[in-house]
Amino acid sequence: MSKTVLVATEKPFAKAAVDGIKNQLDKVGYKLELLEKYTEKQEFLDAVKSVDALIIRSDNVTKEVIDAADNLKIVVRGGAGYDNVDCAAATAKNVVVMNTPGQNSNAVAELAFGMMLNLARQKYSGKAGTELKGKIVGIHAYGNVGKAVARIAKGFMMTVKAFDPFVSSDVMEADGVVSVATIDELYSSCDYISLHIPANESTVKSINYAVLSEMKKGAALINTARKEVIDEAGLIEMFEKREDFLYGSDLTPDCKDELIKRFENRVFITAKKMGAQTAEANINAGIAAARQIVNFFEKNDTTYKVN
Ligand code: 3PG
Repeated sequence: MSKTVLVATEKPFAKAAVDGIKNQLDKVGYKLELLEKYTEKQEFLDAVKSVDALIIRSDNVTKEVIDAADNLKIVVRGGAGYDNVDCAAATAKNVVVMNTPGQNSNAVAELAFGMMLNLARQKYSGKAGTELKGKIVGIHAYGNVGKAVARIAKGFMMTVKAFDPFVSSDVMEADGVVSVATIDELYSSCDYISLHIPANESTVKSINYAVLSEMKKGAALINTARKEVIDEAGLIEMFEKREDFLYGSDLTPDCKDELIKRFENRVFITAKKMGAQTAEANINAGIAAARQIVNFFEKNDTTYKVN
């Protein structure tokens, strides 16, 4: 039976990705509805009312959104992190939640290197900088993005270390990555720390002053993960106590103005979350989301279900 799929993206997918989604849905006679660049929650609540499926990015799918959707059966987050979806509310209404793991990981990893280079080259200010070659990058969480960071780091001739209690050291070692046993060991031994932990109950505010203060002299923290994992009071304390500390973030911290005002030369923050904002990542994640929806309705396929 025909279904209606809403793509609700405050930060839209590239046009080629939307065309690809439409193409997937056309093949099975599903209807595509688009809500892009919306500014009011009410627009989202109205748009979701009678759709069968929903594709989103970092858009907040709260209990209110789920309750406003009379026919909703599935939400697919086009991307990796699904901390923006109230999974408990979805489960309570028998709504399946999926993500599209790995589809945008190369884009995020490339941006992590863009930020490392930016800081290494003193923000392209005209001052002499340093090179990545020969430095040590510490990957905090070795999932799809972490693996992509490791792959690119080798091209820069960096030593790669990783900490991830959920991934065996054999997996890391097979990739030529040095597995370290503790967070302290990772933070104290690397020139760059690239963060890839999800935001959840055990990680929110986990990157605090105690963790940061372990960092090597002149080291940089690169955050392409989530702003919530940083304890911002601890981050400011680190900037105050350690004049050598550098921070690159693809997430806008709540304390952005203070960081820019007080530590401008040592911080780089993107204008908007840009990690997955490439045509390729949008196409990969958007089309995967559409395919997962079609397979869910047509074949009862619940691969990538997260709730
Ligand atoms: C993800 O979790 O996949 C990334 O954070 C991408 O987020 P975005 O779709 O909002 O760019």
